[in-house]
Amino acid sequence: MAVWKRVYRGLLPDDYLTWLTVTPEHVGQFREALGNPTSWRFIVAESNGQLIGYGGVGPVNDYDFPPASPGAGELCTLNVAMPWQRRGVGRALLARLTDALRDLGYTEAVLWTFRDNPAARGFYEANGWTYDRHGDFDLHGPEPMSAPAVRYVRRLDGVP
Ligand SMILES: CC(C)(COP(=O)(O)OP(=O)(O)OC[C@H]1O[C@@H](n2cnc3c(N)ncnc32)[C@H](O)[C@@H]1OP(=O)(O)O)[C@@H](O)C(=O)NCCC(=O)NCCS
Repeated sequence: MAVWKRVYRGLLPDDYLTWLTVTPEHVGQFREALGNPTSWRFIVAESNGQLIGYGGVGPVNDYDFPPASPGAGELCTLNVAMPWQRRGVGRALLARLTDALRDLGYTEAVLWTFRDNPAARGFYEANGWTYDRHGDFDLHGPEPMSAPAVRYVRRLDGVP
């Protein structure tokens, strides 16, 4: 959440970023997903016992859109702590997360990121993901708000 508050300043509404906090509902959702390794996988990066990044994969939660294919899973979240960005942590996490999607039996993967987040888009494009379509991401904020988002896809068979 600290990463969101820094990276998305100017991209998402200020009111939303100020309001954003870790709620018991978030914790419950994480606990539930962590307890269900046949559907979800989370991978963390640590340095000297400190969490410096994490990501998660699971079933497609593709809002109003159909999955790219019936065999698609989703990269649901990926965040690297600010001081560690652009030092290879994201790439290492992404490699393990795509392995986790394969391990869960998926042959294709999708992800959503904000349309106006060039760093993330550059990162995914440099790592074999292809723009697929655009839509609006519901922020589930204190009042109805959304942000333009883009979907990326990649196949999981063949190229590692
Ligand atoms: C996007 C993110 C996960 C990438 O992780 P990272 O550890 O910073 O990335 P890596 O060091 O592994 O890879 C860097 C590569 O990604 C691409 N990249 C990273 N930042 C970039 C930027 N600002 N502009 C263009 N390309 C960028 C480049 O190809 C870069 O390679 P290079 O440094 O050799 O040019 C990380 O920056 C992050 O957590 N950002 C904030 C949260 C976020 O946007 N998450 C994704 C939401 S879906």
